[in-house]
Amino acid sequence: MSFRNLIDFSDIPAKEWEEMCTLAADMKIHPHRYVSACAGKVLATLFYEPSTRTQLSFQTAMFRLGGSVIGFSDPNSSSVSKGETLRDTIKIVSTYADVVAMRNPVEGAAFAASLYCRVPLINAGDGGHLHPTQTMTDMYTIREEKGGCDGLSIGMCGDLLNGRTVHSLSKALSPHFGNTYYLISTDKLKMPGYATEMLSANGGKIIECRSLDECIALLDVLYMTRIQRERFSSESDYRSQAGIFVLDNEKLKKAKDDLIILHPLPKVDEISYEVDDDPRSKYFEQAENALYLRMALILTLTEKFPDRLPVKGEKYIFSGERYCKNPVCISNHEKYLPKIVKQKNERKYCGYCDRDV
Ligand code: NCD
Repeated sequence: MSFRNLIDFSDIPAKEWEEMCTLAADMKIHPHRYVSACAGKVLATLFYEPSTRTQLSFQTAMFRLGGSVIGFSDPNSSSVSKGETLRDTIKIVSTYADVVAMRNPVEGAAFAASLYCRVPLINAGDGGHLHPTQTMTDMYTIREEKGGCDGLSIGMCGDLLNGRTVHSLSKALSPHFGNTYYLISTDKLKMPGYATEMLSANGGKIIECRSLDECIALLDVLYMTRIQRERFSSESDYRSQAGIFVLDNEKLKKAKDDLIILHPLPKVDEISYEVDDDPRSKYFEQAENALYLRMALILTLTEKFPDRLPVKGEKYIFSGERYCKNPVCISNHEKYLPKIVKQKNERKYCGYCDRDV
């Protein structure tokens, strides 16, 4: 079954992921072939949270396909500031657009929006939860550089607690074999249990580190992240965690010649400027790949699902029960949302934010 909404990278079946990588690679070499592939189509970019790269690359992707873009980058300039629900905004916007890309600071907002969206919906980041189009870029860059995503030593460093890109990447790496994961963070910013479980699900080995020096010599891939300032409750909490992990040329002396350094960007102070010139730094290529992958995604979804469907959410029965204990889950913010609990083996989890219930 093909995917209509991209909430999570694992929504993409393996075969379609292969096809999308091939399409993105072709778009990178022959962009002129696609200049009117989405002519007459409209992409809505609804950004409830600041973004430079993700928003601009979605918009550029649609323009390069010959389509048009509507949307907002500041919810204060839309009806959201008047108190409009997510449900109403999405219902209306999806009667205007052919595909919607949404970023929202609340976990599970993308799945919630998909219940009321009449056209394909793409999660462009939902709080600290998931960021599947960044994950597409990360997985694509790893396979381009390393020939695949199995049998690697992969370091993830920085804010592993609040960074949605590492959570999303952990979920995507979960089915891969023979990897060792070095999780480099402070005790306070450790990877949440649900994400480490995903990494170890297929025999992945987990090693927790408190410094880059402990493991840098062993790594094939180093995924650096910034400390997510906006997710801290106070500036002093943030300050106590900032500036601890900094990748510089001195540390890189110990690293393998074929290490690749990735970063979802924006980077702040976790990578010194000098490292940008090291041939092992691949983060700017990674950011460029994102454009072609978003083009491939938009084209695939708009071609496969050209029809506007009735809203699915009305089929669910609203129970009024608050069941998810995650305070930053959308089900605790938009009170009309139906209770959705999913189950995998013994584990029952919230259908919006994936946390155990
Ligand atoms: C990331 C994000 O928004 O989660 N950036 C991005 O999409 N390029 C990473 C971050 O903000 O740290």
